[in-house]
Amino acid sequence: MEESAIRPREIQVLADAPALMRAAADEVGRVITEAVAERGWCAVALAGGSTPRGLYQLLAADHAAGRVLPWAGVHCFFGDERLVPPTHPESNFRMAWETLLARVPVPRAQIYRIMAERPARAAAAAYERDLRRHFLPQGDAPPRFDLILLGLGADGHTASLFPGTPALREERLWVAANPVPQLQTERVTLTFPVLNAARTALFVVSGADKAEAVARVLEPAPGGERLPAARVQPEQGRLVWFLDAAAAAKLPRAA
Ligand code: 6PG
Repeated sequence: MEESAIRPREIQVLADAPALMRAAADEVGRVITEAVAERGWCAVALAGGSTPRGLYQLLAADHAAGRVLPWAGVHCFFGDERLVPPTHPESNFRMAWETLLARVPVPRAQIYRIMAERPARAAAAAYERDLRRHFLPQGDAPPRFDLILLGLGADGHTASLFPGTPALREERLWVAANPVPQLQTERVTLTFPVLNAARTALFVVSGADKAEAVARVLEPAPGGERLPAARVQPEQGRLVWFLDAAAAAKLPRAA
């Protein structure tokens, strides 16, 4: 299929952020339950940033309220990480730990943190070894996550695949150390080969500040610049976008 072709995708627009988080939590629950029922376990890559915080808190609240998910079968990875220790306020691991992982019964041995307190290249190489150890890949085929959660930056980035950065061109490595000059930092991120091998790639996007990027990703202008998030096109999987009305505001009605 031509690189710029748009694959089938599911787009759900919810009225507001609470409705978005409710729908996303239900979808996450469905995917986890189905994967564990079918394969005995479920590999999930969590998104970072601020948007998923509400989703993680809701999943934890559901658990506390007795809404049972097979957390014991979940293996939890991360889509990307900032180059900070796990105790740092900017740490995606810390955010996910405090809002979800410390509150649901995912076995600690099944939580695979990116060791971003180390230099980016060393952290990326170590994480690739973790993926290889866990997924026991056939040849060079990238690992197939059951669920990859993703956010969207106002510049069209997802995970830590930012416009104009070298990791966008990575076709061999599964985890890249990515210099991000626009943030004057480096990040560690899963690469497109892994994102596009997912069984379900689920974007959760909220707020008016994302509306322009959502429209440019989902309804790109002919010949327009292709934003990184537009390149998430699972080969044999589902591409799902959950948006609140503010984030969907610039989409043509029939998108
Ligand atoms: C990160 C994320 C990143 C995030 C977007 C959106 O580490 O920051 O993985 O890709 O999803 O930047 O961030 P917000 O949800 O904070 O708007």
